[in-house]
Amino acid sequence: MKRILIAAVTAFAFMAAAPVMAKEPPKGKLTLPQKDAATAKKGPVHFDHGSAKHKTLKCETCHASAEGGKLTLDQKTGHATCQKCHMETAKADPAKKALGTCDNCHAKK
Ligand code: HEC
Ligand code: HEC
Ligand code: HEC
Repeated sequence: MKRILIAAVTAFAFMAAAPVMAKEPPKGKLTLPQKDAATAKKGPVHFDHGSAKHKTLKCETCHASAEGGKLTLDQKTGHATCQKCHMETAKADPAKKALGTCDNCHAKK
């Protein structure tokens, strides 16, 4: 009983001290805004937080913090964050070859 009480008090103190509560990621497929769609070589990138694999990743894999936090991906950071895993997954499993292709993330232009 005492243990449970301590755990509860600790949990409450932690919650009260946290400045921002963890946010829920947006549901469904979202499209990343393009800085300049006219000069972009590829179509806009889409992403779904709810995909089986994406759901297992820590928010900080992509965001500045566990609350989500501002995220701006350019070609360099976007490919380091997203394409790297997709290419590795495609290489390891021939059935997932499509994951490594440009059109898996970029809409056709
Ligand atoms: C750690 C590995 C990993 C990272 C990082 C990752 N993905 Fe994926 N992604 C996958 C896998 C695996 C799938 C196949 C579906 C599944 O198993 O969830 C997938 C599926 C997709 C799909 C196909 C539609 C869907 O949601 O199923 C898109 C589009 C996509 N990812 C875009 C992105 C973008 C954009 C990023 C970076 C912001 C990203 N992914 C980061 C592993 C990853
Ligand atoms: C694989 C990379 C990846 C992971 C992991 C991820 N996100 Fe995201 N998230 C994105 C991308 C890409 C966007 C779209 C950003 C944009 O529109 O510029 C986004 C957008 C958001 C937004 C919309 C607000 C905003 O900043 O535009 C919230 C809130 C968010 N994510 C929360 C979370 C939380 C909470 C987690 C952990 C449970 C999480 N995300 C995990 C890639 C990721
Ligand atoms: C796993 C997802 C993913 C895959 C696969 C991927 N990209 Fe990207 N790419 C991104 C993200 C994220 C960005 C940064 C966001 C943006 O620019 O819209 C980006 C940005 C870019 C840009 C800069 C913006 C533009 O359109 O001019 C180019 C060029 C690009 N990618 C080319 C490619 C090519 C070529 C391939 C295939 C060989 C490819 N990408 C495969 C996720 C991906």
